Amino acid sequence: MARIFSGIQPSGELHIGNYLGAVKNWVQLQATHPGAIYCVVDYHAITGSYDPAVLRARRWGMAKSLLAAGIDPAKAVLFMQSDVPEHTELSWIFTTITPLGDLERQTQFKDKSAKVESIPAGLLMYPVLQSADILLYRADSVPVGEDQIQHLELARDTSRKFNLKFGVEYFPEPKPLLTPTRRIMGLDGNAKMSKSLGNTIGLLETDDEIWQKLRPAMTDPQRVRKSDPGRPEVCNIFQLHKAFNDETTVTNVAAQCRTAGWGCMDCKKVLLEGMVQELTPIRRRSEDLDAEPQQVLDALADGGRTARGIAQQTISEVREIMGLGAMTAAALG
Ligand code: TRP
Repeated sequence: MARIFSGIQPSGELHIGNYLGAVKNWVQLQATHPGAIYCVVDYHAITGSYDPAVLRARRWGMAKSLLAAGIDPAKAVLFMQSDVPEHTELSWIFTTITPLGDLERQTQFKDKSAKVESIPAGLLMYPVLQSADILLYRADSVPVGEDQIQHLELARDTSRKFNLKFGVEYFPEPKPLLTPTRRIMGLDGNAKMSKSLGNTIGLLETDDEIWQKLRPAMTDPQRVRKSDPGRPEVCNIFQLHKAFNDETTVTNVAAQCRTAGWGCMDCKKVLLEGMVQELTPIRRRSEDLDAEPQQVLDALADGGRTARGIAQQTISEVREIMGLGAMTAAALG
């Protein structure tokens, strides 16, 4: 049975972009892959400048909304990366077998380093830590979006290099399990939905808050008047219909748009209904967790213990393989 591992940055409460693009898939995978391991990667979140108080709040917001979205501690392991220090230990080990050139070639490093005056070495090492995250649990399937493919290639190279260098078949070669939903566009229709661009709908927002954001959201720019036929295939609202409504509704929405039977407001109201249906139970669970925050802490403590148990086992085997195992008088001979 495949072992699943995935990680998400502690960016605070989830929005519908990261819910549809990643977390909904994580929730579904719990049914087919009991014991899937999901991690809030807070050590990855400190490679740029940040405010510690904000990071603390965002770690909390992410953990809470993952549970609200349906990550179930009875089926999956949910934990905070920094609760398992073995991630950093394996990461150091991997730096010793990773060619510098491979790291400098990573697209994400090139993009991010171009924007700062002084480049923290941690930014370069980011994908090494990511490889360590995955291989620490000897995971072979990693549910991610397309933007992570290059990082996973590096994880496979690292696994292969380690095995070859030490003559073992210890680490598997982790493969991406691509999220079925394509990347979700922001409400402005210009760019990927992302917190830093302010074009999101929060997963925990109320029906009214959602409507206030849907109402002015961009649709097909060529549809100026209600009588103009629309093009669902270029409309970001239609993309959300596909995520939140059933096939019959989606087919009807497309037909109403093309024939100008409905205006964009009519269409958005139908979207709102679909969203409310899926998001209401999530918001309720989140309210329960707000009332009883100990539930979140307990889930993380539990997940952290399970993850750490696996991680310590791996590290002790890795140390043994590398000649870093415990020294005994007998073995010294
Ligand atoms: N780099 C990933 C992202 O930005 C997050 C991440 C860190 C991750 N470690 C991981 C994803 C391990 C999958 C597996 O989305």
